[in-house]
Amino acid sequence: MPADVVTGGGAAVAGSALAAGAAFIYYACSVPTSQILGRALVRGPRASRQVVLTFDDGPAEPFTGQILDVLRRHHVPATFFCCGKNVARLPEVARRAADEGHTLGNHTWSHPLLYFKGRRRIEDEIDRTQEAIERAAGRAPMIFRPPYGVRWFGLFPVLRSRGLTDVQWSDTGYDWKTKHDGRAIARLALAKLKPGAVILLHDGREPLEPGAVDASTTVAALPAIIEGARRMGLEFVPIDRFLAGTRTHP
Ligand code: NI
Repeated sequence: MPADVVTGGGAAVAGSALAAGAAFIYYACSVPTSQILGRALVRGPRASRQVVLTFDDGPAEPFTGQILDVLRRHHVPATFFCCGKNVARLPEVARRAADEGHTLGNHTWSHPLLYFKGRRRIEDEIDRTQEAIERAAGRAPMIFRPPYGVRWFGLFPVLRSRGLTDVQWSDTGYDWKTKHDGRAIARLALAKLKPGAVILLHDGREPLEPGAVDASTTVAALPAIIEGARRMGLEFVPIDRFLAGTRTHP
């Protein structure tokens, strides 16, 4: 066999191995439900008929305050994955959420994609946010959600050493897509809603500048999501109920 054919075959094998490796890394880091880099909470027990509402990227006013008003009116506990820079800007809003019985989580300081980020950068993003939330609300979070759901090598050792659990999601209203109005967001969030779901919504819209954030469609969708879930016999619970057995640190 001519040498160039052998070389060609070797390159093809190497090429497909590379493609498979890239696909594996993509899956491990980028698919919200993947457990390859570390254990993450994706959903609670399906038998429970309980669901959890989560809001990412805030606080952002007036939307976070409006969401808190809706939650209070409907007696729904929720979880807010806050960006540290937004908590530093609006500490009183984070404080209000905690005072009203909601859970605060860490969503990094500046909402970067964690692909190719070194351990020092990951630590800095997480630690500054832990401190900002503790300063604002009196208690540092026990839960973390990475921006865009993307995990990277080195993230999980940092989470473990801070006693943080990665919380992903199993359901969403795709409220970050500007083409969706409140009705579409509610329909999408309810379409595949199952017992044990962790529902992803947004009270902010990273990486927009604060003045450009518009989470009004999420605010508009929220009452219909709450009422629709309750009509399905589902109960909104604090995220703690889903964390038993998932937490990797005491
Ligand atoms: Ni986010």
